[in-house]
Amino acid sequence: MTSETTRRLKVAVDPVSADDRRAVDEAAALVAAGRLVAFPTETVYGLGADATSAAAVARVYAAKGRPARNPLIVHAPDAEQGLRIARADDRARLLASLFWPGPLTMVMNRRADCRIADAATAGGPTVAVRVPALSAARALIKAAGVPMVGPSANRSGHVSPTTADHVLADLNGRIAAVLDAGPCPVGVESTVIDLSGPQMRVLRPGAVTISMLRAALGTDDLAGSLDSADLPADDGLSALPSPGMLGSHYAPRHAVRLDATAPLPGRREVLLAFGPPPPGFARVLQLSADARPREAARRLYALLRTADGLDVDGIAVAPLQLPAADPDGEILAALADRLGRAAAPRD
Ligand code: TXA
Ligand code: MG
Repeated sequence: MTSETTRRLKVAVDPVSADDRRAVDEAAALVAAGRLVAFPTETVYGLGADATSAAAVARVYAAKGRPARNPLIVHAPDAEQGLRIARADDRARLLASLFWPGPLTMVMNRRADCRIADAATAGGPTVAVRVPALSAARALIKAAGVPMVGPSANRSGHVSPTTADHVLADLNGRIAAVLDAGPCPVGVESTVIDLSGPQMRVLRPGAVTISMLRAALGTDDLAGSLDSADLPADDGLSALPSPGMLGSHYAPRHAVRLDATAPLPGRREVLLAFGPPPPGFARVLQLSADARPREAARRLYALLRTADGLDVDGIAVAPLQLPAADPDGEILAALADRLGRAAAPRD
């Protein structure tokens, strides 16, 4: 693909100044013209493009090197517009009223008159919709005047970006601009819930936890997230329920070893610690010194990138255990899910 100069457009998290407005408008004009613009959300940076344009969506798949059968999330500026993109039922309306804007993506059935490009949903009958919480993201989508696809702004299979620098490390020269609002406050991708059939299912755990969803829906009839060990191998089938949830994903260069409580003899590993680290590791990077789940989520991807750049034999990850009951404890399920993928055997 052709190389272009990627511009960095700085904007505040809550864009209010005239400079912010100019940056948002410039980014929005690029999106409206079919170009690719990475944008900040509360979870991770997304690779934004006009979801109604087949050509723009094709450019997203090309820039990421993403398999065409892995569908994209469509981002709307507010809940009202988000619910209009698909056939939203009462469950969707209830969840939207509680969790939008916010880190929840709902998979719903496409409408007959759906304007979203077929390629964005990988030709499938459902569409994933999300309304991000970050004001800068919503200002951009609103100004662009179209729903925007927004896969994480990394090359396919790489670690998701939580800063504009991460985006540029993967996509410099492949996108027109990155709207830079600083580091993402949540740090792991949105929870994905499948509402396309009678049985609801969480396809990807995130900061909106299964307990929060169960409490909201008043039901226990919500299948938990798929464990990475149970996931089907990437065998080229086109009918995976959520193709982005293949076992091996988020792959760093170094091998990843989970639940590490002590160094392995003869191996120089960097430890991602969660709370006080055991002695003897070559290097220690701290997810959260006092074992706070939200802080660890915020730091996870940046530390994985740092760890991957070190001259070590591998990355060890401490057990993600809490010293005491913590209302945020379930967020650790999202970290365990992503780390499980990072540690999965490579294809
Ligand atoms: O937090 C997020 O969701 C970020 C930010 C940028 O919004 N976006 C993101 O997009 O994580 P992506 O493309 O990296 O992950 C989307 C996930 C993939 O696992 C994909 O397979 C799944 O959602 N997905 C998308 N559309 C789907 C659909 N119609 N049915 C089932 N799964 C779907
Ligand atoms: Mg991704």
